[in-house]
Formats: sequence, C-alpha cells, structure tokens
Amino acid sequence: MFEHEQVVLRTGRRTGLPVIIAVHSTALGPAAGGVRMWRYPAWRDGLADALRLSAAMTAKFAAAGLSNGGGKTVVALPEGTVLEGPRRRDALHDVGDAIAALDGAYSAGPDVGTAPADMAVIGEITPHVFCRPAESGGSGDSSPHTAHGTLAALRAAARHLYGTRDLAGRRFGIIGLGHVGEHLAALLAAEGAALTVTDIDPGKRARTEALGAAWTGPDEILGADVDVLVPAALGGVLTERTVPRLRCRAVVGPANNQLASPGVADLLHRRGILWVPDYVAGAGGVIHAVSTELHRLGPGEARARVAAIEDTVTGLLGTADRLGQTPAQAADALARRRVRTAAP
Ligand code: PHE
Repeated sequence: MFEHEQVVLRTGRRTGLPVIIAVHSTALGPAAGGVRMWRYPAWRDGLADALRLSAAMTAKFAAAGLSNGGGKTVVALPEGTVLEGPRRRDALHDVGDAIAALDGAYSAGPDVGTAPADMAVIGEITPHVFCRPAESGGSGDSSPHTAHGTLAALRAAARHLYGTRDLAGRRFGIIGLGHVGEHLAALLAAEGAALTVTDIDPGKRARTEALGAAWTGPDEILGADVDVLVPAALGGVLTERTVPRLRCRAVVGPANNQLASPGVADLLHRRGILWVPDYVAGAGGVIHAVSTELHRLGPGEARARVAAIEDTVTGLLGTADRLGQTPAQAADALARRRVRTAAP
C-alpha cells in the first residue's frame, strides 16, 4: 500500500542527478529528515530507500513525542561516485531547489554522506534546513547528540537485562565508525566498556588504538562474542540469515532501518535477543536539532530531552513485557497511536 503523502523525484537541473524527497507524513507537523547522498546500484534503489527511511522518520518523531512528521532525501549516486568541490555544491543546490518547491512541508538535516557544512550550502537556496554550522545560524553537528541518545538507550537495555545501567565491563560490538559510530565508541570507552569495532572502510582501523578497541571484519562482527551489538552504519544488517549467527544478548544502535523486513523483529525475540527499535535508539540527533532550532530550548534542556530516551526505552520494554509484545510492537503501537490521534 502506498502510504506516503508525496514523493518528489526529479533530475537535478545542475547535475542531472536523481533527487528524491519522500514526505511520509505531516500529520504531527512539518516533515523533517536527513539528506542521504549515497551510492546505489540504480536510482530505483534510492527511491525504495527514501520511501522506507521517511516512514521510519515519522515513527522516530512520534515515539520521541515531537510534533514533526517523517521525510527523507536521497541523492542516488552511481556506483564509484565521489561528490566533491563545485559538483557537490551543485548537487546540494539541486536538493535545495526540490526542498524549496515543497514550501515548508519538509526540512532537511544531515544523514549518511552529508554533514553540517552541506546543510549551509542547501541553506543558500532554502531556509528549510536543520543543523547548519553555528556560524551559519544552525545547531551544528547532530551526531554527538545521536550518540548520547543511543548511550541512553543502551543504559535502559542494560538495566533491563542485567539490573544495572552501569556499562563498565560490558562488551559491545560497534558496526560502523562513521559520524555517530565514532562518537558512540568514544562514549562507551569512557564508560569502561570493552569494544570490538568494524567499518567497511579499512582505513578506520587506525582509530581502534585510541579507543582501546579490538578490530574485526564487517561480517565477522555479527558472530562476535559480545553482550550488545550496536549497528551504527547503513540499514538492513538484521536479516533471516544474520540473526541465527548472533551471539549477543541485545541489539541496540542508531543505524536507521536495521531490520531487512519487519518479521525479523519476531525472529530476534524468539532467539531471546533484545532489540530496541532503531528509530527510538537513534532519535537523539533530531531531538536535539528540533529542540534547539524550533523550540528554542537551551543546550541543557535539549540535552535532557536526549537523555530522556532512557526513560522512553525503559517504558517501552516494560510495556512490551506486560503485554507479551516485542519491543518493536510496543514502539510501533506508541508511534501509530500518536500519529493517529494527531491526524485531523
Ligand atoms: N540523519 C538524521 C536521522 O536519521 C536526520 C536529521 C538529523 C534530521 C537532524 C534533522 C535534524 O535521524
């Protein structure tokens, strides 16, 4: 069933690249979501990603109790493309045109393949953009806040599993040392956790020493003997093939769309592996951006809202236990209820 409010698919005037903006819902308020500039086998794969990712953003805002809807931009790059210099600017301006045409129904933020500096470039075309650098009037990098939010979710999961929110000595397997993964690894290292890390870019291996972490391969980490796996890169890591290999007690991470299909949540549950829905564990970035840029909260209050993810997760895990549901079912029900009651 097609359930999106609107999807824009156009050829960038400057670059000829396919620019896709999926607005899933504005029932709770104007949609927001990141701009993903990433390589896809074909633009249709980018479209499919935008449809899934924008729906997840609706759930992310609803579960966080924020009055925004879900959207996502995908600039589908041909395999092997690296966008730099003037061509990158042009692509971002193409994105800006598409956002401007939506007239406030959707605002952009950073995502895989983009950063705050890119948001400033989009901001040359349209004001509907979050996370510009402070000197350009925005709230800056959302990644550290996403990492703090995931840390809060991990504390709630630890309390649920082990009766204590203390993470010292626990073993974590972090999949992806990108903007969020690297911050999260540093936070966990500071908590005294034992880390195993991986990235598709072998160049990231150099980071392991500073983190006191062990390095492993992107495939091997799935079977690693750790307490918690932390997906912090691209989606789709949890599949019918990978879940049987997991040796962890829980999967809790900020990557969007970790499940290859919704049924994988049941598979995890049957294996006794706690899965905290990605859109709950990864909400820190949007919570911070919206709280500071839209709600004009100060840094302390914004941080407190991000930290409240711990209570949200504790509440969801309690509800799931009480009602005999998976955490995914409990979170989906909460998000759907909020969207439904807001709809006119
Ligand atoms: N990449 C962010 C996410 O998936 C998107 C975002 C961040 C949007 C900050 C707005 C502000 O949650």
